[in-house]
Amino acid sequence: MDYPSLLSIAVLVMPVFIKKYVCQKHTCGCSMANGADFFAQIRDMLAGSKRVVFLTGAGISKESGIPTFRGNDGLWKSYDPVKLASLSAFLENPSLVWEFYSYRQRLIRKCRPNPAHVAISRIEDQKKGDGCWVLTQNVDGLHRCAGSKNIVELHGNIFKAKCIQCGFYGDMDMDMGVDAAAAAALPPKCPNCGSVLKPGVVLFEEALPQKEWAKAIGIASSCDLMLIVGTSLNVSPANALPFCAKDNKAVLVEVNPEETWLSRSMDFTLKGSAADVLPRIVTY
Ligand code: OAD
Ligand code: ZN
Repeated sequence: MDYPSLLSIAVLVMPVFIKKYVCQKHTCGCSMANGADFFAQIRDMLAGSKRVVFLTGAGISKESGIPTFRGNDGLWKSYDPVKLASLSAFLENPSLVWEFYSYRQRLIRKCRPNPAHVAISRIEDQKKGDGCWVLTQNVDGLHRCAGSKNIVELHGNIFKAKCIQCGFYGDMDMDMGVDAAAAAALPPKCPNCGSVLKPGVVLFEEALPQKEWAKAIGIASSCDLMLIVGTSLNVSPANALPFCAKDNKAVLVEVNPEETWLSRSMDFTLKGSAADVLPRIVTY
């Protein structure tokens, strides 16, 4: 498998490579020090890019009403991922893990895409073919709901289930009918072999689905522009994808209201919420 080279990692994290650091006030559309309008620059880069990639995380769905994982109001403050979202927890107590995921399913089912998801879908329409991709760590399916088609779901999908015995992979709602009413029957069983099904998301201690990961590396390594939206970049291996892009000399743009450990190594860092910033970079 093609991993980013150590050299590229060293280069990316060296602060000397910062080109632009855009402060919070620039989200209101004011000009940068060099006089150029920031959003116009990003729009130009988008128009000129052969392949743009959006690497997205929980922050892009926050304004749809789905909590993020880290930070003060993050899910992992109230819920212990080791007990509720790890492979060992699932093997020990599948019903408990399923209760957590069916609670999240019910919450997510009520949520709609926000202007950030819609903006990305619009950009995919404009770029046509495979000129625009979404590599997402999110399991909520909101990119697809917003109309994006070129999506790699790195951490799976919360509305799917998988059998670790026979390999069955199916749509959780339709195939199994697991919803609030059927939650009492948790954990759900495989329609093929009767074994306990696993939520269709990547649990801690599990590897990413190989096909998706290989595809994501290929896409990230061949883009010339990567927008990194709403992710703390704390989780490996998804957080290696900006390095793959940088290996290909792609321009890196971060959209996040908070600074991340890689902010200062981005070519452009825009502090702002995804639903505020992304619609501004689309030409309608
Ligand atoms: P995190 O919760 O780690 O990070 C969310 C990021 O979103 C933070 O950097 C926030 O500053 C930012 N953010 C918050 N509100 C935002 C907004 N309105 N617009 C843009 N950004 C905003 O979530 P991820 O990085 O996605 O894994 O976490 C990665 C993985 O860790 C998840 O996929 C999940 C979790 O454990 C699995 O479930 C396997
Ligand atoms: Zn099975």
